[in-house]
Amino acid sequence: MNLLLEKTDKIRLIQEGSKLPYDLLLLADETIEAIDKYIHDSEIYIYEREGETLGVYALQMFDGESIEIKNIAVSKTCQGEGIGQRMLLNAMEQAKDRGFKYILIGTSNAAFRQLYIYQKVGFEIYEVKKDFYTKNYSQELIENGLPLNHMLVLRKQL
Ligand code: ACO
Ligand code: ACO
Repeated sequence: MNLLLEKTDKIRLIQEGSKLPYDLLLLADETIEAIDKYIHDSEIYIYEREGETLGVYALQMFDGESIEIKNIAVSKTCQGEGIGQRMLLNAMEQAKDRGFKYILIGTSNAAFRQLYIYQKVGFEIYEVKKDFYTKNYSQELIENGLPLNHMLVLRKQL
Protein backbone atom coordinates (compact mmCIF):
# COMPACT_ATOMS: atom_id res chain seq x y z
CA MET A 1 0.00 0.00 0.00
CA ASN A 2 1.29 3.46 -0.92
CA LEU A 3 1.58 5.49 2.26
CA LEU A 4 2.99 8.61 0.59
CA LEU A 5 0.56 11.48 0.25
CA GLU A 6 -0.92 11.61 -3.27
CA LYS A 7 -0.35 14.87 -5.22
CA THR A 8 -4.09 15.56 -5.16
CA ASP A 9 -4.27 15.12 -1.39
CA LYS A 10 -3.32 17.18 1.64
CA ILE A 11 -3.63 16.97 5.40
CA ARG A 12 -4.27 20.29 7.12
CA LEU A 13 -5.15 21.73 10.51
CA ILE A 14 -8.59 23.32 10.50
CA GLN A 15 -9.02 26.81 11.91
CA GLU A 16 -10.65 27.30 15.28
CA GLY A 17 -14.35 28.01 14.81
CA SER A 18 -14.58 26.03 11.53
CA LYS A 19 -17.50 23.67 11.03
CA LEU A 20 -16.57 20.28 12.51
CA PRO A 21 -16.95 17.14 10.34
CA TYR A 22 -19.27 15.34 12.78
CA ASP A 23 -20.35 12.89 10.05
CA LEU A 24 -16.78 11.54 10.00
CA LEU A 25 -16.12 11.91 13.74
CA LEU A 26 -19.23 9.81 14.40
CA LEU A 27 -17.68 6.88 12.52
CA ALA A 28 -15.06 6.65 15.28
CA ASP A 29 -17.17 7.52 18.31
CA GLU A 30 -20.72 6.65 19.27
CA THR A 31 -22.39 9.94 20.10
CA ILE A 32 -21.99 13.70 19.59
CA GLU A 33 -22.11 14.01 23.37
CA ALA A 34 -19.03 11.75 23.69
CA ILE A 35 -17.20 13.66 20.91
CA ASP A 36 -18.00 17.03 22.47
CA LYS A 37 -16.15 15.99 25.64
CA TYR A 38 -12.78 16.27 23.83
CA ILE A 39 -13.24 17.89 20.45
CA HIS A 40 -13.35 21.52 21.61
CA ASP A 41 -9.90 21.34 23.18
CA SER A 42 -8.37 19.23 20.41
CA GLU A 43 -6.55 20.21 17.24
CA ILE A 44 -8.46 18.87 14.28
CA TYR A 45 -6.72 17.82 11.09
CA ILE A 46 -8.56 16.90 7.91
CA TYR A 47 -7.50 14.82 4.93
CA GLU A 48 -8.58 16.55 1.73
CA ARG A 49 -8.64 15.41 -1.88
CA GLU A 50 -9.29 18.24 -4.31
CA GLY A 51 -11.13 20.15 -1.59
CA GLU A 52 -13.28 17.21 -0.48
CA THR A 53 -12.84 16.05 3.14
CA LEU A 54 -12.15 12.30 3.21
CA GLY A 55 -10.74 11.89 6.70
CA VAL A 56 -10.24 13.51 10.07
CA TYR A 57 -8.14 13.11 13.17
CA ALA A 58 -8.18 14.97 16.47
CA LEU A 59 -5.13 15.48 18.71
CA GLN A 60 -5.45 16.41 22.37
CA MET A 61 -2.62 17.14 24.78
CA PHE A 62 -2.52 14.37 27.39
CA ASP A 63 0.30 15.65 29.60
CA GLY A 64 3.58 17.51 29.10
CA GLU A 65 5.22 14.61 27.28
CA SER A 66 2.29 12.86 25.57
CA ILE A 67 -0.37 13.75 23.05
CA GLU A 68 -3.36 11.55 22.19
CA ILE A 69 -5.24 10.83 18.98
CA LYS A 70 -8.79 11.04 20.36
CA ASN A 71 -10.59 10.34 17.09
CA ILE A 72 -9.55 9.14 13.64
CA ALA A 73 -11.93 8.33 10.80
CA VAL A 74 -12.01 7.88 7.04
CA SER A 75 -15.09 8.29 4.87
CA LYS A 76 -16.69 4.85 4.34
CA THR A 77 -16.23 4.90 0.56
CA CYS A 78 -12.47 5.59 0.91
CA GLN A 79 -11.53 3.16 3.69
CA GLY A 80 -8.81 0.62 2.92
CA GLU A 81 -6.88 2.96 0.54
CA GLY A 82 -4.17 3.92 3.03
CA ILE A 83 -5.69 7.23 4.16
CA GLY A 84 -5.94 6.11 7.82
CA GLN A 85 -2.29 5.08 7.94
CA ARG A 86 -1.21 8.32 6.21
CA MET A 87 -3.08 10.30 8.89
CA LEU A 88 -1.47 8.23 11.68
CA LEU A 89 2.00 8.93 10.24
CA ASN A 90 1.11 12.62 9.92
CA ALA A 91 -0.07 12.74 13.56
CA MET A 92 3.23 11.20 14.68
CA GLU A 93 5.17 13.79 12.67
CA GLN A 94 3.15 16.69 14.15
CA ALA A 95 3.66 15.35 17.67
CA LYS A 96 7.40 14.78 17.19
CA ASP A 97 7.96 18.22 15.62
CA ARG A 98 6.29 19.80 18.62
CA GLY A 99 8.59 18.04 21.07
CA PHE A 100 6.24 15.39 22.47
CA LYS A 101 7.89 12.16 23.59
CA TYR A 102 4.90 9.84 23.15
CA ILE A 103 1.73 9.59 21.11
CA LEU A 104 -1.23 7.62 22.46
CA ILE A 105 -4.33 6.12 20.89
CA GLY A 106 -7.15 4.14 22.49
CA THR A 107 -9.54 1.64 20.98
CA SER A 108 -11.87 -1.12 22.05
CA ASN A 109 -11.24 -4.79 22.78
CA ALA A 110 -13.32 -5.63 19.67
CA ALA A 111 -11.64 -3.28 17.18
CA PHE A 112 -9.41 -5.84 15.43
CA ARG A 113 -8.80 -3.85 12.28
CA GLN A 114 -7.84 -0.72 14.20
CA LEU A 115 -5.54 -2.70 16.51
CA TYR A 116 -3.85 -4.15 13.44
CA ILE A 117 -3.30 -0.78 11.77
CA TYR A 118 -2.08 0.96 14.92
CA GLN A 119 0.49 -1.77 15.61
CA LYS A 120 1.52 -1.81 11.95
CA VAL A 121 2.56 1.86 12.18
CA GLY A 122 4.46 1.27 15.42
CA PHE A 123 2.10 1.65 18.38
CA GLU A 124 2.42 -0.89 21.20
CA ILE A 125 -0.18 -1.92 23.77
CA TYR A 126 0.46 0.19 26.85
CA GLU A 127 -2.54 0.02 29.19
CA VAL A 128 -5.97 -1.58 29.56
CA LYS A 129 -8.79 0.63 30.84
CA LYS A 130 -11.07 -2.05 32.26
CA ASP A 131 -14.81 -1.55 31.64
CA PHE A 132 -14.23 1.84 29.97
CA TYR A 133 -17.13 1.43 27.52
CA THR A 134 -19.62 -0.03 29.99
CA LYS A 135 -18.88 2.82 32.44
CA ASN A 136 -18.92 5.69 29.92
CA TYR A 137 -21.73 4.80 27.50
CA SER A 138 -25.33 4.15 28.51
CA GLN A 139 -26.17 1.86 25.57
CA GLU A 140 -24.59 -1.52 24.83
CA LEU A 141 -22.03 -1.20 22.02
CA ILE A 142 -21.19 -4.04 19.61
CA GLU A 143 -18.36 -4.31 17.08
CA ASN A 144 -17.38 -7.37 15.06
CA GLY A 145 -20.14 -9.26 16.87
CA LEU A 146 -18.55 -8.66 20.28
CA PRO A 147 -19.56 -6.31 23.10
CA LEU A 148 -17.24 -3.36 23.70
CA ASN A 149 -16.06 -3.45 27.31
CA HIS A 150 -12.47 -2.43 27.74
CA MET A 151 -10.29 0.20 26.13
CA LEU A 152 -6.82 -0.76 24.98
CA VAL A 153 -4.45 2.20 25.04
CA LEU A 154 -1.52 1.97 22.63
CA ARG A 155 1.54 4.17 22.75
CA LYS A 156 4.40 4.98 20.42
CA GLN A 157 7.67 6.58 21.42
CA LEU A 158 8.54 9.39 19.00
N1 ACO B 1 -9.56 -6.71 9.33
C1 ACO B 1 -8.23 -6.47 9.44
N2 ACO B 1 -7.54 -5.69 8.58
C2 ACO B 1 -8.22 -5.12 7.58
C3 ACO B 1 -9.60 -5.33 7.38
C4 ACO B 1 -10.28 -6.16 8.31
N3 ACO B 1 -11.59 -6.38 8.22
N4 ACO B 1 -9.98 -4.63 6.28
C5 ACO B 1 -8.87 -4.02 5.81
N5 ACO B 1 -7.82 -4.33 6.59
C6 ACO B 1 -6.46 -3.88 6.47
C7 ACO B 1 -6.05 -3.49 5.09
O1 ACO B 1 -5.55 -4.60 4.40
C8 ACO B 1 -4.96 -2.46 5.38
O2 ACO B 1 -3.77 -3.10 5.77
P1 ACO B 1 -2.48 -3.16 4.80
O3 ACO B 1 -1.93 -1.75 4.75
O4 ACO B 1 -1.57 -4.10 5.54
O5 ACO B 1 -3.00 -3.66 3.49
C9 ACO B 1 -5.49 -1.77 6.61
O6 ACO B 1 -6.37 -2.68 7.25
C10 ACO B 1 -6.28 -0.54 6.25
O7 ACO B 1 -5.40 0.54 6.28
P2 ACO B 1 -5.86 1.98 5.77
O8 ACO B 1 -6.42 1.92 4.39
O9 ACO B 1 -4.72 2.91 6.03
O10 ACO B 1 -7.04 2.30 6.79
P3 ACO B 1 -8.30 3.27 6.55
O11 ACO B 1 -7.99 4.37 5.62
O12 ACO B 1 -9.52 2.47 6.31
O13 ACO B 1 -8.40 3.92 8.03
C11 ACO B 1 -9.72 3.61 9.99
C12 ACO B 1 -8.54 3.10 9.14
C13 ACO B 1 -9.42 5.04 10.48
C14 ACO B 1 -9.87 2.70 11.21
C15 ACO B 1 -11.00 3.61 9.09
O14 ACO B 1 -11.24 2.31 8.62
C16 ACO B 1 -12.25 4.12 9.79
O15 ACO B 1 -12.57 5.30 9.69
N6 ACO B 1 -13.00 3.23 10.49
C17 ACO B 1 -14.23 3.63 11.17
C18 ACO B 1 -13.93 4.57 12.32
C19 ACO B 1 -12.98 3.97 13.35
O16 ACO B 1 -13.12 2.82 13.76
N7 ACO B 1 -11.99 4.78 13.80
C20 ACO B 1 -11.04 4.40 14.84
C21 ACO B 1 -11.68 4.40 16.18
S1 ACO B 1 -10.49 4.52 17.52
C22 ACO B 1 -10.15 6.17 17.61
O17 ACO B 1 -10.75 6.97 16.93
C23 ACO B 1 -9.06 6.67 18.54
N1 ACO C 1 -9.74 -13.25 11.91
C1 ACO C 1 -10.77 -13.34 12.79
N2 ACO C 1 -11.64 -14.36 12.83
C2 ACO C 1 -11.46 -15.35 11.96
C3 ACO C 1 -10.42 -15.37 11.02
C4 ACO C 1 -9.52 -14.24 11.01
N3 ACO C 1 -8.50 -14.14 10.16
N4 ACO C 1 -10.52 -16.50 10.29
C5 ACO C 1 -11.59 -17.17 10.77
N5 ACO C 1 -12.15 -16.48 11.76
C6 ACO C 1 -13.29 -16.81 12.59
C7 ACO C 1 -14.28 -17.73 11.95
O1 ACO C 1 -15.23 -16.99 11.21
C8 ACO C 1 -14.91 -18.38 13.18
O2 ACO C 1 -15.81 -17.44 13.78
P1 ACO C 1 -17.40 -17.64 13.76
O3 ACO C 1 -17.68 -18.86 14.61
O4 ACO C 1 -17.94 -16.36 14.40
O5 ACO C 1 -17.74 -17.80 12.32
C9 ACO C 1 -13.73 -18.52 14.09
O6 ACO C 1 -12.77 -17.54 13.68
C10 ACO C 1 -13.04 -19.88 14.00
O7 ACO C 1 -13.64 -20.73 14.99
P2 ACO C 1 -13.27 -22.28 15.07
O8 ACO C 1 -13.50 -22.94 13.73
O9 ACO C 1 -13.97 -22.80 16.29
O10 ACO C 1 -11.71 -22.20 15.35
P3 ACO C 1 -10.60 -23.31 15.03
O11 ACO C 1 -11.19 -24.67 15.10
O12 ACO C 1 -9.86 -22.88 13.83
O13 ACO C 1 -9.69 -23.14 16.32
C11 ACO C 1 -7.60 -22.17 16.84
C12 ACO C 1 -9.08 -21.92 16.62
C13 ACO C 1 -7.40 -23.09 18.05
C14 ACO C 1 -6.99 -20.80 17.14
C15 ACO C 1 -7.00 -22.84 15.54
O14 ACO C 1 -7.23 -22.01 14.43
C16 ACO C 1 -5.52 -23.13 15.64
O15 ACO C 1 -5.11 -24.23 16.04
N6 ACO C 1 -4.65 -22.14 15.29
C17 ACO C 1 -3.21 -22.37 15.33
C18 ACO C 1 -2.73 -22.59 16.78
C19 ACO C 1 -3.05 -21.42 17.65
O16 ACO C 1 -2.87 -20.24 17.30
N7 ACO C 1 -3.51 -21.72 18.88
C20 ACO C 1 -3.79 -20.74 19.90
C21 ACO C 1 -2.52 -20.19 20.49
S1 ACO C 1 -2.83 -19.41 22.11
C22 ACO C 1 -2.90 -20.73 23.12
O17 ACO C 1 -2.67 -21.84 22.75
C23 ACO C 1 -3.25 -20.53 24.59
